[in-house]
Amino acid sequence: MLPKNILKLRSAIHDVQLRYLAQLVPKYKESIENKMLAWQIHSYGDLDELKLSNVRIPLITKPTEVLIKVQAASVNPIDIAMTRGYGATLLNLMRKARSIGAYGSNDLIEFPLTLGRDFSGVVVSKGHGVGDKLKLGDEVWGVVPVEKQGCHANYVVVESNLAKRRPQNLSYTEAASILYAGLTAWSALWITGGLCYKTSIGTRLNRRVLVLGGSGGVGTMAIQLLKAWNMHYVLFIINIYIKYLH
Ligand SMILES: NC(=O)c1ccc[n+]([C@@H]2O[C@H](COP(=O)([O-])OP(=O)(O)OC[C@H]3O[C@@H](n4cnc5c(N)ncnc54)[C@H](OP(=O)(O)O)[C@@H]3O)[C@@H](O)[C@H]2O)c1
Repeated sequence: MLPKNILKLRSAIHDVQLRYLAQLVPKYKESIENKMLAWQIHSYGDLDELKLSNVRIPLITKPTEVLIKVQAASVNPIDIAMTRGYGATLLNLMRKARSIGAYGSNDLIEFPLTLGRDFSGVVVSKGHGVGDKLKLGDEVWGVVPVEKQGCHANYVVVESNLAKRRPQNLSYTEAASILYAGLTAWSALWITGGLCYKTSIGTRLNRRVLVLGGSGGVGTMAIQLLKAWNMHYVLFIINIYIKYLH
């Protein structure tokens, strides 16, 4: 086994190389300091496990990845559940599977764990395989897979296909609040609920949908989708939210 100081040196050289490779492409360059703030947990437990830490900015380790400067990020039930260890066994298996051939990846270790699954922000660096899909300086919104380091931080690295240009009629905060909850609602209605099979509007109109938790993140998105599709829906909500939902 190599002595610890040699391993550290090797890892530092590798990091410099990765940062250099990721910055070869940019026409638009932003000076990226090495450190950032991130909300992290160091073990599973209650919310007081969350600590604001000064950590290294994650590195681009694949040609298809982008580094995003985070402007806004959401808090979903899964963030709270993950603080308590939800899915830990499965997520560790997924991290292991990803680690095959992924030397230097940001996502191989369980702790410290940065939470946060959807974000909006600006592309500040990109791998050479991203091409013109995303440009440096693009304002984007996107999601982080559950087994990866999250976006409750100043910067996050994601695969470029998980970030798209942000709709200009949404603020950064609005954009960051939509994707996980919205895609969950869409997938529940369209795929699991089978609305995709009801291609004619007439057939869809004959269906009623009961939305439980209509005042929550997923519920409010479901209501708006159903309204846009002109469907009948029945809500299960608690009184104080009725005014807000109107
Ligand atoms: N957000 C996501 O991205 C996402 C993704 C996948 C799965 N999910 C799952 O989808 C569910 C909803 O997520 P969410 O983001 O919409 O959560 P949320 O914003 O916390 O909303 C939860 C909703 O459920 C209602 N509720 C809570 N306890 C209830 C009870 N005992 N009886 C009836 N209603 C109750 C809440 O009403 P009150 O506000 O009045 O308590 C609220 O309307 C959760 O189980 C979550 O794990 C969420």
